[in-house]
Amino acid sequence: MSKIGIFYGPELGSVEKVARVIESKFGAGKVELVAVKNANEAALQQFDKLIFGMSTIGKTNWDSEHKDTDWDVFVTHFDKVNWGGKKVAMYGLGDHVQYPQHFVDALGWMYERLENTAAELVGFCSTDGYTYEESEGIKDGQFLGLPVDEDNESDKTDVRVENWINRLINEFGY
Ligand SMILES: Cc1cc2nc3c(=O)[nH]c(=O)nc-3n(C[C@H](O)[C@H](O)[C@H](O)COP(=O)(O)O)c2cc1C
Repeated sequence: MSKIGIFYGPELGSVEKVARVIESKFGAGKVELVAVKNANEAALQQFDKLIFGMSTIGKTNWDSEHKDTDWDVFVTHFDKVNWGGKKVAMYGLGDHVQYPQHFVDALGWMYERLENTAAELVGFCSTDGYTYEESEGIKDGQFLGLPVDEDNESDKTDVRVENWINRLINEFGY
């Protein structure tokens, strides 16, 4: 069984914490964690099943406020990747209390960078159980990945991740 690559950034905070929760749910040896900082397209090419983990950091919106996150750099390698046959799921950290109008916007930002590639995007998520006003991370009524709010709802993370992975196992054909 081929390994799942969990590409995450930034390091050391909630994004990395959730990467490790996902790793523990899949079980030892099933996934490989890759910090996107200093990674390039060669790292991506090794995996057919990918999980991208990111946070939303932007007071008004992701695009205008930040150009230099680990992901901003890593996505510049995307056009060198052969996405055919790859499945990509995303999770996004956010804060629905401080940023209710931009909750997990980064999921939408990342979707825009993947939707015209040959990658198949999986792991979309119902908005049920989430409180927010607006999100660029929603398309056709669904979150484009798993939203996680470690700032206000860390008690829900475990169940959210577990339910998501149970669906992902099917979608990945794992
Ligand atoms: C300056 C700043 C801006 C933020 N902007 C948003 C935002 O627009 N939308 C959102 O959902 N969360 C926002 N957040 C919350 C972060 O996404 C959240 O705290 C996340 O867990 C951080 O992940 P990290 O610890 O891995 O860096 C912001 C946080 C900071 C510090």
